[in-house]
Amino acid sequence: MTESTQEAAIRLVHVRKVFEGAARPAVGDLSLDVPAGALVALVGPSGCGKTTTLKMINRLIEPTSGEIYVDGVEVRSLPASHLRRRIGYVIQQIGLFPHRTVEANIATVPRLLRWDRNRIKERVAQLVDLVGLDVEILPRYPAELSGGQQQRVGVARALAADPPVLLMDEPYSAVDPIVRAHLQDELIALQRRVRKTIVLVTHDIDEAIKLADRIALMNVGGVLEQYATPNDLLRQPVNEFVADFLGRERGLKRLSLITVDGVELVEGPVVGCDATPAEAESVMEKHGVDWVGVRDGDRLLGWTDRASLANVARVGDAPLRPFSTPVHPSATLRETLDALIASQTNVAVVVDSDDRYLGMLTIEQISEGVRRS
Ligand SMILES: Nc1ncnc2c1ncn2[C@@H]1O[C@H](COP(=O)(O)OP(=O)(O)OP(=O)(O)O)[C@@H](O)[C@H]1O
Ligand SMILES: [Mg+2]
Repeated sequence: MTESTQEAAIRLVHVRKVFEGAARPAVGDLSLDVPAGALVALVGPSGCGKTTTLKMINRLIEPTSGEIYVDGVEVRSLPASHLRRRIGYVIQQIGLFPHRTVEANIATVPRLLRWDRNRIKERVAQLVDLVGLDVEILPRYPAELSGGQQQRVGVARALAADPPVLLMDEPYSAVDPIVRAHLQDELIALQRRVRKTIVLVTHDIDEAIKLADRIALMNVGGVLEQYATPNDLLRQPVNEFVADFLGRERGLKRLSLITVDGVELVEGPVVGCDATPAEAESVMEKHGVDWVGVRDGDRLLGWTDRASLANVARVGDAPLRPFSTPVHPSATLRETLDALIASQTNVAVVVDSDDRYLGMLTIEQISEGVRRS
């Protein structure tokens, strides 16, 4: 299905919110379609209306005017309680109930729905597993958990009744960068398994680039400056506000969106271990380098240089040096560039999951990959 024919799971049409007594609207006139199964990130400066927008979707805040549809149904035509069963909500700053155990927190919505006890127990066990927690934390209180664990409980709670739509408000702002990266990876994995329509609010443009299918970049007053895929946003920011928000290193950020399998590899200056030094010499000359890679069947053993080839009959007898850490086809070009910079040969070696040699990337291939994407 192409994007244009794909049904929007969430549709905002000329939505406006003016809080009582406010001089300016929190959200002036926002129209936005979130395709079913997509993860859309709302990004923008503090106070631009991200949380307000999220809360209008599940009616924690009522819009002043405009329409909001979830799966084709206007949200005000449903009782708010019905609506919220279909929409999981991860609150800004986690927001677990402090006086309820982890188990009771996760079971909040199923209890409201009056599921029977066994079903709730089963579901809680499933969720704990799904978000990577240990059952031993179930009787604890939120204050007895780390930030990352609390965050996972927040996600488990939001997923409890298996809602098709998930709203997440800065879910990772309370944890350190390492835990955050880990939780982001888990969200990507989770989204692969239980594809939901997700609207995720974040301040962090790198987080949005990593997680989102599309990014809605907002300005004060809920003004939608640009709505595009991360790659399009980085490639063609529509105005200065967007360019400023994306910050410097737009090219480097794009590198993290492209993986090695999307780029053409080269065989590189490589010879078999039975090649003669003269053969190696001609390969080095052809490639304009002073080293040569040595392979044995589908393995790349290492590399050697001119001086080391002086007294051997076959290349395989020369002392070989290892290439720096090889990358897999799933690696990003950013990781690949990092491997390349660390290498003495100025190439990144690509191998498959069984360590079979697939080819090399040079700086030229990396630039070409960025140009073409
Ligand atoms: N209940 C409220 N009453 C009055 N004004 C409000 C209320 N909630 C939010 N606002 C105002 O509406 C604007 C948008 O707020 P909102 O919380 O949506 O911003 P945000 O983009 O989520 O910001 P942050 O990134 O800091 O969380 C702000 O100017 C805020 O002060
Ligand atoms: Mg907010």
